Amino acid sequence: MPTQNVIKMPAIPPIIVPPMQEEQLDAKERATLVARIKRLIAEQNAVLIAHYYTSADLQDLAESTGGCVSDSLEMARFGHAHPAQTLIVAGVRFMGETAKILNPEKRVLMPDLNAHCSLDLACPADTFNDFCDQHPDRVVVVYSNTSAAVKARADWVVTSGIAVKIVRHLHSLGKKILWAPDQHLGEYVRDITGADMLIWQGICVVHEAFQAAELAQMKLAYPEAAVLVHPESPAGVVALADVVGSTTQIIRAAQELPNQTFIVATDNGIFHKMHAAAPGKTLIEAPTMGFGAGCSSCAHCPWMAMNGLRNLARVLETGDNEIRIEEGIRRRAVLSIARMMNFAAQP
Ligand code: 13P
Ligand code: SF4
Repeated sequence: MPTQNVIKMPAIPPIIVPPMQEEQLDAKERATLVARIKRLIAEQNAVLIAHYYTSADLQDLAESTGGCVSDSLEMARFGHAHPAQTLIVAGVRFMGETAKILNPEKRVLMPDLNAHCSLDLACPADTFNDFCDQHPDRVVVVYSNTSAAVKARADWVVTSGIAVKIVRHLHSLGKKILWAPDQHLGEYVRDITGADMLIWQGICVVHEAFQAAELAQMKLAYPEAAVLVHPESPAGVVALADVVGSTTQIIRAAQELPNQTFIVATDNGIFHKMHAAAPGKTLIEAPTMGFGAGCSSCAHCPWMAMNGLRNLARVLETGDNEIRIEEGIRRRAVLSIARMMNFAAQP
């Protein structure tokens, strides 16, 4: 009997999901905070860069002050190209770190430095380094949702918007890949490209909660709806999608497809921008475990929800929560991010 090489995957540390603590503001406090933040942004030559999963207040503020609301790839591009000396990143920790890696001369602030990501937490740098050492024949490709130290070990960083293209390119060169940390995105990319990929076992707690069986039922109830799915979702959910893509690609699909109704499997923070981009269309949340009966996130990221107007105003006033990255790590991490950005810039 031929013996098979069984690869032992590293154990994932237990992920502690924080309770949802979305900021509650009355109209008066909101207006006062918005005015204060606008003044501070102007005084400090700062720019606000927000992810689509942050609150509507933060997204509106970013846009009305000349900043941007976008997916993680565009957040990195925008912060790099913008002349402001202070970047305020409303999102999760890896997004602030990416901004700092690309812009060491700038001050990068975040409303809450505890805004992590279950994928980042699932991939500790020391365990990851050991695993890479065991597979020196593989090109190391990591998702952007990782720490600076993990990016420093990688050959390539990818975001969900460009992962398929980059892996397809590497596969065409005959490369074997070590992929981390998102298992579902890794399997999706492997299925599409046919690349030889060794896949880390991390998951996004938000997208993991989407349920394929309930989604199939929902499709029957809304036969005219197109299903838009972020590829961090489980394979059964991805299989039911009409469009699989990054947050920006999902918004674009709602704008461009002729359907009037969409079932959306990603964080529901995206609905703010989707409604603005596709006015008049009906957007329905894809089902999570029993409609709130036990999901740990219920289609909203508890770490993204840590960003609010109060802590944003505070960091602008105090200068607290500055992202700092050890220079040796930064110099290595910038190479793998720059490789992705140069690839993305190609026609
Ligand atoms: P995007 O790059 O599609 O914005 O995704 C980031 C993310 O964290 C999704 O959960
Ligand atoms: Fe991470 Fe998931 Fe939150 Fe995105 S939604 S930041 S992948 S935990």
